[in-house]
Amino acid sequence: MNTNDYIKFFEELDDSNDEDARSSPKRTSQRRESRKLEMDARLFVHAQEISREFQFTYKAARFEEAWLLDSLVEIAEHQWISDVLRKVKSGKEASVYLCRSGGGVDAPLVAAKVYRPRSLRNLKNDHQYRAGRADLDENGNVIVDDGALYAMQKRTAYGEEVRHQSWIAYEFKTLEILHQAGADVPRPYAMERNAILMGFVGDLANAAPTLHSLTLELDEAKTLFDRVLRNIDLMLAHDRIHGDLSAFNILYWEGDIALIDFPQVVIPESNPASWSIFLRDVTRICQYFSTQGVRCNARKLASELWVSHGHRIVKEVDPRYLDPDKAEDRRIWAKQK
Ligand SMILES: Nc1ncnc2c1ncn2[C@@H]1O[C@H](COP(=O)(O)OP(=O)(O)O)[C@@H](O)[C@H]1O
Ligand SMILES: [Mg+2]
Repeated sequence: MNTNDYIKFFEELDDSNDEDARSSPKRTSQRRESRKLEMDARLFVHAQEISREFQFTYKAARFEEAWLLDSLVEIAEHQWISDVLRKVKSGKEASVYLCRSGGGVDAPLVAAKVYRPRSLRNLKNDHQYRAGRADLDENGNVIVDDGALYAMQKRTAYGEEVRHQSWIAYEFKTLEILHQAGADVPRPYAMERNAILMGFVGDLANAAPTLHSLTLELDEAKTLFDRVLRNIDLMLAHDRIHGDLSAFNILYWEGDIALIDFPQVVIPESNPASWSIFLRDVTRICQYFSTQGVRCNARKLASELWVSHGHRIVKEVDPRYLDPDKAEDRRIWAKQK
């Protein structure tokens, strides 16, 4: 069973929840049903094979288990982890699991971020981040192979897989660069085809909450705001813009913060929309901290930081990069009209 089989399986599973699919002609749904049963059987057999070797404490549902085992088997084989204890969160692109470390890690607990096959679909919207960004292979090296580049351009199944891998490699590589630079990010340990392993923020009983779920004392809010700005500054110094920064992607644990979720990271010089993306990041951060009583002017802060790193402010926020479902994005749009 290869990755594409899983993807098809998960897509079918999703489609079966759609209104459209439910009202589709009977024959289509029968065909879908029989394909699903077939996938079901193959996944189950595959999970059985791997689970003979690895017995994890966390008992996933059958399909999730097959995906999880397939994604983590190499990480377990290399003894980065010795057990999967529980699922921390199912996010929009990935599920994150709390794992007990293996011999190769100096901390007792680690977090495994296992990407959903479904995220391949979301990658249809990745063009704004990928603009000017070289694609990376499974070792984090820039892809120069013409075949792979052509496949990506043509969006063949192989090309989509390479693109998926590049997306993950950017998250891992960014963690490596920023951790090395002393930024507040989890320590990266390993990357496999469909998963990354990093330091776990939290303890055995609790994963760290995201900043967005917390109400802070004013003093602490001010301290953490400065800390986030220091990280944004450090990222710019290493030619990186987070690209999806907000209080949802910052964890808080015992007075410390950890910035997470980097696959869409943007390289300022090469992306034509980089100022807009940067301004959006700073605006979302200011939005959260202003609800905590910190006074801040997002545009002023963003432009000072941006210019201090030698960048030029090129244009206003391009409407394509605003999300009409988000109140703060609507406000940005209203302001510049
Ligand atoms: N290193 C970590 N330690 C503890 N929890 C984490 C860690 N990384 C992610 N998480 C949890 O998993 C959630 C989803 O991770 P994230 O990287 O933001 O992926 P997504 O793209 O799905 O938003 C986070 O909101 C957080 O609750
Ligand atoms: Mg996230």
